[in-house]
Parts: sequence; structure tokens; C-alpha cells
Amino acid sequence: MTLAVEIAGIKMKTPVMTASGTFGSGPEYADFVDLNKIGAIVVKGTTLTPRDGNKGRRIAETPAGMLNCIGLENPGVDEFVSRILPGLAAYDVPIIVNIAGATTDEFAELARRLSVPGVAGLELNISCPNVKEGGIAFGTDCMSAAAVVTAVRKNTVLPVITKLSPNVTDIVSIARAAEDAGSDAVSLINTLLGMSIDIHRWRPELGNVVGGLSGPAIKPVALRMVWQVARAVKCPVIGLGGIMTAEDAIEFLLAGASAVAVGTANFVNPRASVEIAEGIQDYLVERGLKSVRDIVGRVNDSI
Ligand SMILES: Cc1cc2nc3c(=O)[nH]c(=O)nc-3n(C[C@H](O)[C@H](O)[C@H](O)COP(=O)(O)O)c2cc1C
Repeated sequence: MTLAVEIAGIKMKTPVMTASGTFGSGPEYADFVDLNKIGAIVVKGTTLTPRDGNKGRRIAETPAGMLNCIGLENPGVDEFVSRILPGLAAYDVPIIVNIAGATTDEFAELARRLSVPGVAGLELNISCPNVKEGGIAFGTDCMSAAAVVTAVRKNTVLPVITKLSPNVTDIVSIARAAEDAGSDAVSLINTLLGMSIDIHRWRPELGNVVGGLSGPAIKPVALRMVWQVARAVKCPVIGLGGIMTAEDAIEFLLAGASAVAVGTANFVNPRASVEIAEGIQDYLVERGLKSVRDIVGRVNDSI
């Protein structure tokens, strides 16, 4: 029985990755969990120049998840390559860098600067709801999404994963546009736009007024979108959104995801991604299945 999968040429020991922005750069979690047991680490969103992120309160809890408006706080690509990446080399786990540009040229430049040893792949964040420039604009329009993928494709030989936004009318058309432009895989979903209000102060709780909703509240939406997209594209799909347990992850695999990513669950349990992989293993062993691939897309939705 093997848990190993290969996504767009990236070999992973398990199908469970960590979601960008929820696991730092990786080593922040090394005291709590053996990073070598994670399928792949997707590091926090990286931009061309350093960013402080948004002002004011940036996290709010909701009954079944959280709202965040971090605003892509990060030290910038050069600092990542020179200071953070060498430390990651100590671990036997593929490192995928999530990148966010304000323009297609910035995405291209990020791809160029990150095409260095130690980076296993790039995830294009065309879907961040928390930054004014770019971000979500790319992810809600087929032409812009395709333009970003094309620009990145020209500037790297690394596997390219396009991360899709759920804040759209038709996620399938964006997924198809990304695939047609040369994306090797798609990951979905990013956070759903949400808001919460402090009724004592009559003010929004988040400094940015609105933020991205993640966690169990978004799982049914994410699962539906993964199911829709997996049937419409040929490239591998990475499913995420509210995965807290192995059972959640198995639902995504059955819906058609070839791998999954764990985000908000890391804040509750830093070992979540490893425990979820163990739970998937138990499920496969109980059923006498040899590989994760045996359940990918196997939901029987014929009526
Ligand atoms: C605090 C926080 C920061 C995030 N930062 C990023 C980011 O930098 N880039 C990105 O593509 N997604 C980012 N995300 C979105 C997650 O990667 C993921 O798509 C989303 O949270 C849904 O998964 P979950 O419900 O398992 O958390 C962030 C999410 C949270 C909660």
C-alpha cells in the first residue's frame, strides 16, 4: 500500500500538503511535527518586494472557521531565496512557493527568481481577496488568469499550479483557461469573501472590513467546486477548503482531487496534515486498496 502521489511531476510521500499562508515557511512548525512526513509544503504567499500586510485586526473567529485579511505579509522573494530557502533544504519534502504579483510582469519576474534549486514548484495566487492591487482581479477573469499563467510558463520550467478563487460565477471556465495556458495543475479553493461586525462598537471586526473565510464553513462549497473542476480538466486537481480530518480529505479525493491541502486545521493542530495522511492510510488498508489513486474521482454520482 502506498500513499505516494505525483502531482505535475512533483513526487510526494503522501497526498496531504499544507496550504499557503497557514504553515509559515515550514520550519516554524518543526518543533511540533516531522516536516519530512508532509506530502509537500506550500509556503506563504511571496511577493516581489517585502510587504507588512494590512493594518488593524487581521483575524476574526467565526462559528465554523475564521476570517483573515493578512494582506500577504512576507519578506519578499529575494529574502526568501537567500535566507529562508537554504534552511528548508534540510528537510526531505517538496517546497512549493505560492507567488502573488500585482501585474503579469511581476508574476513572470517572481517565477524567474524562484527557478532555483530547492523549489519544487510554483503555486500562482491569482485569487487573494485581501490585497487591493491585482490578486483577485486575475482570478475572476479567464483572460487575465490565462495571461498570468502564460507569462509564468515562459519564465520557468518548474511545475506550475494555479490556485483558483471561489469568488466567481463559474470556476470551471477559469480552471480551463489556466490549463489551456499551460498550468500543470490547479488548486482550489482559496478563501471566500466574508465579513463580521462588532455589535458593541458598531464597526467591522477586521481592519480591512472584509476578509477571507476559511475552515469547516467552506468545505461543502470547496468540495462542490473540486468535483466540478475535476470533471472538466485533464490536469491534476489539488483540493482544499475546510479539511480538518481524514474523512474530509477522503471526500475531496473521491470528488476528484489527486492531492489535498490542509490550511486552517494547522492552527488548531499543527500535526493535522500528518494525522490526516495516517487516517487516509488506515482507510485504504481497511478496504484492501493499494494506492490513493484507487479512490481519486471514484464518487458514484450517477443517478
Ligand atoms: C491566515 C491565512 C493566510 C493565508 N494566506 C494565503 C496566501 O498567502 N496565499 C494563498 O494562496 N492562500 C492563502 N490562504 C488561503 C489558504 O491557503 C486556503 O486556500 C484557505 O484557507 C482554505 O483552506 P482551509 O479552509 O483549509 O484553511 C490563507 C489562509 C489563511 C487562513
